[in-house]
Amino acid sequence: MSQAFDVVVIGAGPGGYIAAIRAAQLGFKVACIDEWKNAAGGPAPGGTCTNVGCIPSKALLQSSEHFDHASHHFAEHGISTGTVKMDVAKMVARKDGVVKQNNDGILYLFKKNKVTFFHGRGSFVAAKDGVYEIKVAGAQEEVISGKQVVVATGSNPRALPGVAFDEENILSNDGALRIGAVPKKLGVIGSGVIGLEMGSVWRRLGAEVTILEGLPTFLGAADEGVAKEAAKVFAKQGLKIELGAKVGEVKSAKKGVTVAYTNAKGEAQELAVDKLIVSIGRVANTIGLNPEAVGLQLDERGAIVVDAECKTNLPGVWAVGDVVRGPMLAHKAEEEGVAVAERIAGQHGHVNFNTIPYVIYTSPEIAWVGKTEQQLKAEGVAYKAGQFPFLANGRARALGDTTGFVKIVADAKTDEILGVHIIGPMASELIAEAVMAMEFKASSEDIARICHAHPSLSESTKEAALAVDKRTLNF
Ligand code: FAD
Ligand code: NAI
Repeated sequence: MSQAFDVVVIGAGPGGYIAAIRAAQLGFKVACIDEWKNAAGGPAPGGTCTNVGCIPSKALLQSSEHFDHASHHFAEHGISTGTVKMDVAKMVARKDGVVKQNNDGILYLFKKNKVTFFHGRGSFVAAKDGVYEIKVAGAQEEVISGKQVVVATGSNPRALPGVAFDEENILSNDGALRIGAVPKKLGVIGSGVIGLEMGSVWRRLGAEVTILEGLPTFLGAADEGVAKEAAKVFAKQGLKIELGAKVGEVKSAKKGVTVAYTNAKGEAQELAVDKLIVSIGRVANTIGLNPEAVGLQLDERGAIVVDAECKTNLPGVWAVGDVVRGPMLAHKAEEEGVAVAERIAGQHGHVNFNTIPYVIYTSPEIAWVGKTEQQLKAEGVAYKAGQFPFLANGRARALGDTTGFVKIVADAKTDEILGVHIIGPMASELIAEAVMAMEFKASSEDIARICHAHPSLSESTKEAALAVDKRTLNF
């Protein structure tokens, strides 16, 4: 007889595994199905984020940043190291270890919260009397049932038309995270988040990195001032970014890859590289889910159609994370997962799309929340802006990392904070204060009046808030 559950979650990425845990906390009998396999064929829950996304990329960013510091900055501190060497295999093995710790952590959390985990592919079979039958195809095949189903099947990398990923020469995020030796020349298509993060890793380790970006503007979603500063710093670091590049034929051979493209001036160019990372966005994944069996509605791009509460067109079926509309971010997926579990329990799940932080983990880090100046201008909103440079922050000077600034934009009349934009050290951590402030509808005056520890980078946020009212104390 098939096992019956209150809630069946398909996918154990940040959207799915968090939804499963929250639903179990709320007293439901929960199953979570995930098909990801580790190198030994065993379960590897955590999805893209844990296996080939957030976590491994940050592990490599950390290792390469240590290498960069040891090579170029230790001497300023009086530390001599001699020639610094990088063991790429060891770096990649460490990254794999970090991934495994996270996979194991999720399996432990499932046990702790009494979530039944199934390793295999979940697909809809049928809906009968408001209960959904789901086939799990793993080492064995079985059918389980759920009164409520949460689909959290994530996304896949988008390929260039006619250019398949071979993960040897033409790499998606997966191959980009396990290059075995530093390529002499690395090409990247797309100067989005993956392009900049992975480009930074291999540039720091010595690769000559060229990024071809289709759009004429760099980091169009970020605040213009931040994007300008980032372009300047990345160029200084040696990341070559060509904007307005129209990519044509891509040829892969044993020796490497050649990319034919037209530059912004319309001139035909060719880029010859050892490896090519293609990071031009991601597409929603419903491969193998068999949505047709129950009539689950997808949009023209293959994403599952949901309303503001993550309800699909089917009663009792919800979808969260990368497989639905909205930014493809792990914390957005998690928030939706929690909210859906709470809605299933009759509670009021809460996701505020206006206060989702965006972070790019380059050096310097880039982080923002809320509206950019250019968005506010386009919307005709009157605003005041205050900016404070890390150059004038004592902790940043002590760290030896004074690039960038904090900018706060606030409503001209009410002083409510509308956006916070940071480029600089630990921006990923600093942005949390801004998210909190915006969630509580704080004014810039509120931040300006809060006592911030000295010396700390967070004093720059306080000073940016003071700058909104033109009364910085240290600049
Ligand atoms: P996923 O994490 O993709 O998980 C979906 C899971 O469902 C997978 O385990 C998959 O195997 C499983 N699955 C799919 N179909 C089935 C099926 N039919 N049956 C069973 N299982 C199935 N976001 C951030 O917020 N911060 C970052 O720093 C960050 N860095 C990133 C770096 C890279 C290189 C990449 C590629 C992405 C990064 N992201 C980051 C984005 C983040 O990884 C995703 O937004 C997030 O993983 C989405 O979570 P999800 O649960 O929706 O889907
Ligand atoms: P992206 O959407 O961030 O960037 C893609 C870039 O490629 C854009 O600048 C786009 O203009 C460009 N592009 C698209 N087609 C092109 C073409 N044919 N030729 C040249 N350029 C082209 O997508 P990316 O970097 O692939 O990342 C995917 C998603 O993963 C992101 O949307 C993000 O949500 C998530 N992610 C998040 C991270 C974080 O939060 N730190 C880190 C890495 C990924």
